[in-house]
Amino acid sequence: APTTGEKIDYVFKVVLIGDSAVGKSQILNRFARNEFLLDSKATIGVEFQTRTLVIQHKSVKAQIWDTAGQERYRAVTSAYYRGAVGALLVYDVTKRPTFEHIPRWLDELRAHADRNIVIMLVGNKIDLQDQRAVTTEEAKEFAQKEGLFFLETSALQATNVETAFQTVLTEIF
Ligand code: GTP
Ligand code: MG
Repeated sequence: APTTGEKIDYVFKVVLIGDSAVGKSQILNRFARNEFLLDSKATIGVEFQTRTLVIQHKSVKAQIWDTAGQERYRAVTSAYYRGAVGALLVYDVTKRPTFEHIPRWLDELRAHADRNIVIMLVGNKIDLQDQRAVTTEEAKEFAQKEGLFFLETSALQATNVETAFQTVLTEIF
């Protein structure tokens, strides 16, 4: 990874969206710091973390924005999406309603974000195998229909978190 003071070629803003408790903040924590908190608190307002990585020989600073899934704690919608070039649209594979709400999140995203935004649908918490309530196939089918990238992740086990961000950042390029 580039050291402090090194030249940054690009800054890419990526937003995290999805229902409360699907694991948005812990996906970000895993990506930005390689950490995970089991007793993660609900996000209030908006937070962001950055990580600089090298993509196709260029130094890219990923600025990842994270807001509350809970309506009453959410950031101002238009400001949140402004300038975003990528989005991770997250549901919890063990909580069916969080998948059923994805079309609503997608509507909001399409209403407020740039039309060229790169979107990755993310089914999180695949470590909870025996509690799965959304199949890989149906999510994949939905993603294909909507023209989204799709991956299943575990922030807890660090499965596919790196790949999810890498794919979005590379595609933005
Ligand atoms: P809001 O901020 O309210 O929108 O929620 P959030 O989407 O940011 O959820 P958060 O990251 O705070 O995680 C909610 C809960 O799920 C916490 O108890 C996390 O520890 C847990 N969690 C997050 N990711 C995973 C995962 O991959 N596996 C398991 N088993 N638990 C997870
Ligand atoms: Mg959060």
